[in-house]
Amino acid sequence: MSESANPKKAAGERAAEYVEHDMIVGLGTGTTAYFAIVRLAERIGEEGLRVRCIATSERSATLARGMEIPLTSFAEVLHVDLTIDGADEVDPAFNLIKGGGGALLREKFVASASDTELIIVDEGKLKQRLGAFPLPVEVVPFGWQLTRQRLQGLGCEARFRSSDNGPFLTDNGNYILDCSFGAIDDPPALERRIVATCGVVECGIFAGLATRIIIGKSDGNVEERAEPGRL
Ligand code: 5RP
Repeated sequence: MSESANPKKAAGERAAEYVEHDMIVGLGTGTTAYFAIVRLAERIGEEGLRVRCIATSERSATLARGMEIPLTSFAEVLHVDLTIDGADEVDPAFNLIKGGGGALLREKFVASASDTELIIVDEGKLKQRLGAFPLPVEVVPFGWQLTRQRLQGLGCEARFRSSDNGPFLTDNGNYILDCSFGAIDDPPALERRIVATCGVVECGIFAGLATRIIIGKSDGNVEERAEPGRL
């Protein structure tokens, strides 16, 4: 595969073209968001693009700092113009599963503050129904075993996420339970039930947040969808 036919790179680079002078820009997390961040850094260098960015993870913040992308925080701004982020699955109504990289809480927080949420994916992430990808749910460490039991009561098998060094810890010091529900009939309803569960901090279903889906193809082309239902 030639470099230009990398679908994640193609989608990420296209999304970076949406950034304009003086925007507050949310920087997503993951291998697709990586390419958008790199292209944004190039544009800042080449065009003198004036932006301030909010990272959705420590990983993306470190990447951005290394490329001299100006960072800000919610201590300074309470509104984001445009966020570029990846996803693990996207359905035709633009519901998403996110959190494969464990950054779902900050990703949803930034998305919820954003006028525009650009989601960058390769074709394999497009699904008729969400749920083949286990749904990441961030939970507080205290009593996580009971939280897992409560989540399993909603109809899933919940697996504790580990890393090489023990429990996977989010940037917020919490745990992740990867919840296999199978095909999800009503993502917004399931999201509401999960976030209403005591012990849950946030759920990887993102409903009503994505405004545009940018799809990188294996032949190097890019497709964009801005109307839910047209995937
Ligand atoms: C991180 C995420 C990522 O956006 C998602 O997992 C997609 O990652 P990638 O672009 O590496 O496939 O939600 O929490």
